[in-house]
Amino acid sequence: MANQRLERFYDGLQGFINTLVGARGKGKHPIKTLLNGTWLGHPLHPVITDVAIGGAVLAAVADVAWLAFPVTLAWAPRMAEVAVIAGIAGMLGSFLSGWTDWSDTYGRERSTGILHGILNTLALILYSISVVLRLSDPAGQSIVGAILGFIGLGIITFAAYLGGDLVFKLGVNVNHTAFEHGADDFVPVGALADIPDNQLTRVVADGVPVVLVRHGDKIAAIAATCTHAGGPLDEGELLPNDVVKCPWHGSRFRMSNGRVVDGPATVSEPVYLVRVENGQVALKRQ
Ligand code: FES
Repeated sequence: MANQRLERFYDGLQGFINTLVGARGKGKHPIKTLLNGTWLGHPLHPVITDVAIGGAVLAAVADVAWLAFPVTLAWAPRMAEVAVIAGIAGMLGSFLSGWTDWSDTYGRERSTGILHGILNTLALILYSISVVLRLSDPAGQSIVGAILGFIGLGIITFAAYLGGDLVFKLGVNVNHTAFEHGADDFVPVGALADIPDNQLTRVVADGVPVVLVRHGDKIAAIAATCTHAGGPLDEGELLPNDVVKCPWHGSRFRMSNGRVVDGPATVSEPVYLVRVENGQVALKRQ
């Protein structure tokens, strides 16, 4: 019962986040795509977290140096202050991109992800209080500000460990076609006559699922596993201009070249070369 209530809470929060980032409508969702990192060809969140962690670590080093040698290193709190400000900028970016990524998770990745997010949000609050205390001192010296920073760094470190679990154990935001190597040479996948016109068709080429779209004699083929989280593209929607929409989180890919048109996916789909001979269709990974 408690579990069901928690799941309902997660559903509601994910819906709320998707509304905030404009991903509830049927059209494109540029804000969400921006925060996912589609434009970068790589998830944005892990890039920004480096800034957050770097700022937090540098601030802690400067604070320790100042506390150890308060007279000789009286300038160190200023350095810590600048590092905290840079770290907070990174934390804000991580906050926005991280919660956006979380809004597409479910199961264990969703429960681990929310803990990761709550801890980092708590650290962001502590660092924000810390920077206010530092800025209110003419020399930027605040023992409480430094202590809050140390606590924040401890929280961030544990949250980063959970972030590692999310990626390396649970596979969040990894390319779900990374281990699909596909055929080195053309392999037959069926008769041309069995492939209907203007609709998504799933075939299997050398053990790898591929989705086809046929227009007369022309066939476009890309991997059927969505790079974002593994959704079956052949069960998605075929949009105008041969764009396929994933049924799970709505990523859109161009059938002609596999490129991502709209996130949350950040990685293009593998493309297959198509050969038609004697009425038989054969595919080879490009
Ligand atoms: S699995 Fe998430 S958009 Fe396809």
